[in-house]
Amino acid sequence: MDVREILQMKRDGGTLSEDAIQTFLTGYVAGDIPDYQASALLMGIFIHGMGDAELTQWTLGMLNSGERFDFSDIDGPKVDKHSTGGIGDKVSIPLAPAVAACGAYVPMISGRGLGHTGGTLDKLESIPGFRTGLEPDEFRSVLKATGFAMGGQTETLVPADRKLYALRDVTGLIESIPLITSSILSKKLAEGIDALVLDVKFGSGAFLTDPQRGADLAKAMATIAKQCGVNATVFQTNMERPLGLTAGNGIEIVESLDCMKGGGPSDLRDLVTLQGGEMLRLVGLAENLEVGRKKIAASLDDGSAFERFQKLTELQGGDPGSLECADEIPVSDEVDHLGSPAAGLFSWADLRNVGRAVGALGGGRARVEDTIDPSVGLRFLVTEGERVERDQPLVQIHHRDGRGLEQAKQLLLRGLVVSEEAPEIKPLVIG
Ligand code: URA
Repeated sequence: MDVREILQMKRDGGTLSEDAIQTFLTGYVAGDIPDYQASALLMGIFIHGMGDAELTQWTLGMLNSGERFDFSDIDGPKVDKHSTGGIGDKVSIPLAPAVAACGAYVPMISGRGLGHTGGTLDKLESIPGFRTGLEPDEFRSVLKATGFAMGGQTETLVPADRKLYALRDVTGLIESIPLITSSILSKKLAEGIDALVLDVKFGSGAFLTDPQRGADLAKAMATIAKQCGVNATVFQTNMERPLGLTAGNGIEIVESLDCMKGGGPSDLRDLVTLQGGEMLRLVGLAENLEVGRKKIAASLDDGSAFERFQKLTELQGGDPGSLECADEIPVSDEVDHLGSPAAGLFSWADLRNVGRAVGALGGGRARVEDTIDPSVGLRFLVTEGERVERDQPLVQIHHRDGRGLEQAKQLLLRGLVVSEEAPEIKPLVIG
């Protein structure tokens, strides 16, 4: 098949056949189809979208572009969770050991922070010595030993996504429902799981800011996962405000450890028990969601989730002793505050600026190859709807030698509002 015919088909809003999809993905991964032709096809998909059957074929084509994990020799259900990401979203870190402590296996492949959002791998690597670059054999042995493993995408897992994602990043083609759906699902399906919980965020800190587009993405993810043979539940949750009380890397690990030990902020615990409970229900380890939630809550409260995480930390090269004492996790003790610009009621405005503030301090990256400082970050001192006085500290800023401090303050001021108007406080979970 001539590649130009494939491009023309999508350019004109047509449906790509299974053949066309195979020809394109195989040729692109092999390097026979250049980026300029791939960009043209991605633009066609971005503009015209994809039908369900077409998107299923596209997702399976991406999945089959590389190796897949096969954990069928491990006796027990395998289940994972994925979030589209946002500010302060650290759910995966306490959730994976809690689900493992309840009897399921969680082979969790995560990503790094890019742009305004943080990444699970960066957060984990702020634990002294913790390694996330596991080879497949090591990933498998950690999974067998602890019931979960936390690593990054390997060279051989879904190479089509690695190439296409990089191309989308530089061509302004990230925010497309079929392209996001296939990118996320192909990587998750390659983990060899039986079931999947997806957390699609809505609000100013999310990938797709419009709740309707978020709902469309949630629906597409659930439909395509089922058509690819994986039972999935999709939650739509709030990213109009940060999750928990911290944003950054080391500082989010400290909060995650609090949650794992039965404490921490209530919104974080609520999402961990909800999504973990649903993971247990999906694989038959809980007869309903309520029972699942209680089991997850018990694993946080009785120390079994934390114990699993200690074991994993040791196996992945980290110092388990550092998890006992918050001082061992890097959080800079150079602290400043953002004072309130006025007296009134506090609310969040554009959360992307809050994520960018972490980036300005050195805690995020603009390009994949940038290095980050795990010790910088933010602690939120007030919550939505709270009355504050002028100059009252709203955010505690952990910085390093003042790097990016003034820029971070300016960004934070654009990320929040203090006025006499009472904000509409949206629920944590909308669907
Ligand atoms: N995360 C991914 O892995 N892929 C996307 O397209 C968007 C978010």
